[in-house]
Amino acid sequence: MSLEVRDVTKSFGGFRALDNVCLKVETGALFGLIGPNGAGKSTLFSVISGFLPADAGQILMDGQPIDSQPPPERARAGMVRTFQVPREFRHLTVRENLMAAAPDQTGESLIGLFFRPGQVRREETAIAERVEGTIRFLKLTAVANEPSGKLSGGQKKLLELGRALMVEPRLILLDEPFAGVNPVLIGEIMDRIAELNSRGIGFLVIEHDLEALTRLVPRLAVMDRGKVLAEGPPDAVLDNPLVREAYLGGVS
Ligand SMILES: Nc1ncnc2c1ncn2[C@@H]1O[C@H](COP(=O)(O)OP(=O)(O)OP(=O)(O)O)[C@@H](O)[C@H]1O
Ligand SMILES: [Mg+2]
Repeated sequence: MSLEVRDVTKSFGGFRALDNVCLKVETGALFGLIGPNGAGKSTLFSVISGFLPADAGQILMDGQPIDSQPPPERARAGMVRTFQVPREFRHLTVRENLMAAAPDQTGESLIGLFFRPGQVRREETAIAERVEGTIRFLKLTAVANEPSGKLSGGQKKLLELGRALMVEPRLILLDEPFAGVNPVLIGEIMDRIAELNSRGIGFLVIEHDLEALTRLVPRLAVMDRGKVLAEGPPDAVLDNPLVREAYLGGVS
């Protein structure tokens, strides 16, 4: 799935968090997004995924504007995001959290329940299988029945990725998947991302851990103060004088 951000602007009160942002992520890409604190990265994710309306500009999926679609509709169309602070249901187990993340089912409407019981059962079986497959894929078997509030920071990040995978996405937006995660688990999460990408799932990844990110992505963009400063292969981008200034200039 291709994603295009076209001239997007978003203000909070008088403060411009996004200032004419343009960005293109091609189908199946593995794309990084970096920038100092407060650059507007998470805000951009919120606008792309439909959690915040843009003041101006457009978001296009596969060339079609999706600005009027709420987040669940964008998820059903194949685009899903994770949050910087994981939003799992703390009292549900890992398995239950994954179940709950499956998209709306036929059985949730009365019509589906009464008139298509066979289809509802098939969907439930398919979801249960997907949950078990996701647990195995993310190596969460040992904690599958633990309340997710008890997980380590890294395990929560894995669960967050798992919840995203439940919607069978074609493009996943990850907000700081390595923050607060120990190095071993970072390697594990990177491997999972690379494997999913090799199966055709696209990623847009916000990350402060540049060392990890540049090992993972062939292309990235840099934001600062609501603007995209540069875009391209990591080496070239990090050499860009504007980028160096944004990082070294002590911008808060
Ligand atoms: N809901 C909001 N209301 C008001 N201001 C906001 C809101 N969300 C973000 N901001 C402001 O917009 C700016 C961009 O925030 P954002 O969270 O997008 O930055 P970020 O690049 O993700 O930073 P970080 O790397 O620290 O996560 C910040 O100055 C922030 O305080
Ligand atoms: Mg952020």
